[in-house]
Amino acid sequence: MTAVLNDSSAPSTDSLVIAPIAGYIGAEVSGISLEHELSVDVQAALRDALYEYKVLFLRDQKIGHAEQIRFTGYFGPVTPAHPLGYTDKSPAGFPEILEVDSRIYAKRSGSSKYSYASFWHQDVTALINPPAVTVLRGELVPEVGGDTTWADLGAAYDNLPASLQRFLEGLYAENRFGGRTPRWAGGSESESLTQETRIVSEHPVVRVHPVTGQRLIYVNPGFTSRIIGVSPRQSDKILDLLFEEITDPAYTVRIRWTPDSLGIWDNRATIHQAPTDLDHLDVVRVLHRTTVEGDVPVGVSGERSRSIHGSEFRAPAPA
Ligand SMILES: [Fe+2]
Repeated sequence: MTAVLNDSSAPSTDSLVIAPIAGYIGAEVSGISLEHELSVDVQAALRDALYEYKVLFLRDQKIGHAEQIRFTGYFGPVTPAHPLGYTDKSPAGFPEILEVDSRIYAKRSGSSKYSYASFWHQDVTALINPPAVTVLRGELVPEVGGDTTWADLGAAYDNLPASLQRFLEGLYAENRFGGRTPRWAGGSESESLTQETRIVSEHPVVRVHPVTGQRLIYVNPGFTSRIIGVSPRQSDKILDLLFEEITDPAYTVRIRWTPDSLGIWDNRATIHQAPTDLDHLDVVRVLHRTTVEGDVPVGVSGERSRSIHGSEFRAPAPA
């Protein structure tokens, strides 16, 4: 199904088209340009589409950092780039932009990987209030390979048997940078920063989405380190099961980056994986990330996440 909304306050050529591209999540958006301010009707339609399709993709958007930050702001307050103090995290004048650059990633992690995080994760769930929404804009993308894949945490929950759903609903999981097995090298910037700035939270394993009310499996291999209240062996078995469920190819959408393309996703309801098919190629991949301030997760019976280390990550107060 394709939704069309004419935008009366913007140039007459603007008409929003939202075309789903996979069975559970993902839609391509066309008919709008982010070079200028969008009308409040189009902004609202984009928010509705984001909550319905969870991942939206826009192409041929020749915009810069300022326009990306303005677009991100349609979905909520825009946070600083990252809670860890990376020395080279933002371009001058744009503290909201996190550079997702294969060269920077290699320096931070001591790894030769070509992307920021080539493993399944949600963004920054170590925080007590992980980002609600993430925007990623491609500047230099490879001609071949380098796709990003997202999966639907709601579908993963919905398709569990009721007995397993009930079992999970009382559980909490610890989230920290690195998850069960940190992927950075010893002595790397990532290792030292995560030791200097401890950020650890315990989230409900089943989270209720604050907008849609959908129940979501809320663990991810990038950050979830253990299930609280069970033995290490039991925790590993439970997480193995959940990680397999949430990364089932049935729940995914895989999207190909093109120059000037931009992806936006509901970071509460999806998990994503940066490319793993570039490690052997000599390519540079540069994207720019922005995030929207998140809320503190709430579980099925109303219980909230618990902060072990660190404080809420907020957008700056309006000037
Ligand atoms: Fe990410």
